[in-house]
Amino acid sequence: MKIGVIGSGGIGGTVGTLWAKAGHEVLFSSRNPEKLATLVADAGNNAKAGTIADAAQFADIIFLAVYYWTTDEAIASAGKLAGKIIIDATNPYIRNNAGEVQRVPNVSSALELAKKLPQSKIVKAYNTLPTRIFAEEHHLPNPYTVFYCGDDTGAKSTVSQLITDSGFAGIDTGKISNVINQEPGGLLYNKPLTMDAARELLASI
Ligand SMILES: NC(=O)c1ccc[n+]([C@@H]2O[C@H](COP(=O)([O-])OP(=O)(O)OC[C@H]3O[C@@H](n4cnc5c(N)ncnc54)[C@H](OP(=O)(O)O)[C@@H]3O)[C@@H](O)[C@H]2O)c1
Repeated sequence: MKIGVIGSGGIGGTVGTLWAKAGHEVLFSSRNPEKLATLVADAGNNAKAGTIADAAQFADIIFLAVYYWTTDEAIASAGKLAGKIIIDATNPYIRNNAGEVQRVPNVSSALELAKKLPQSKIVKAYNTLPTRIFAEEHHLPNPYTVFYCGDDTGAKSTVSQLITDSGFAGIDTGKISNVINQEPGGLLYNKPLTMDAARELLASI
């Protein structure tokens, strides 16, 4: 598959590298693509770098991994995203004047994104676990669960395959209206669980 990564930092760079190494074509984007030379070299022959607009033009699947407060700027830089699958890894945190990062109360970044991009297929995924787990604990014999949700069945099936390819096990948590369980403060957030434990937890909601 062709994947455009918007926000090629900790989470975007790490998950994009797993996909490139699994054989997918990955375009890592940045406001300064020349900064991505090491990332691209480490990700191998299936990876390249470009602008945010290049990522949107190149790919049918976008991995959105920018800070919540830069989402509007990132999607404006992307241009046309209609019809594309957007995997939303963002979490609704904001930096206050003292430089501290705090959860934005009563907000879902995925529900906001779905309103902003009604013609895109939003799937929330990869936001519940820290970057370190994606970097160091992929492809375990009993893999960790990556929860995902969204309203488009075909898009979710694609994302489920990408989760498997990245070395994790996907569990569908339902419609995008369920996303609050997956975002900060939700029961499924920051829970590194294998499939059995994850299913048990999900059943308790
Ligand atoms: N850290 C984690 O463990 C983790 C886990 C899951 C999800 N998340 C979520 O994933 C998102 C990214 O977190 P991160 O830890 O990967 O952050 P990060 O390493 O700081 O990367 C953020 C990326 O956002 C891009 N960016 C910054 N301002 C931008 C703008 N105005 N327009 C477009 N792109 C911009 C930067 O790209 P350039 O400067 O190259 O343009 C940078 O590569 C956040 O929403 C976070 O909550 C984080």
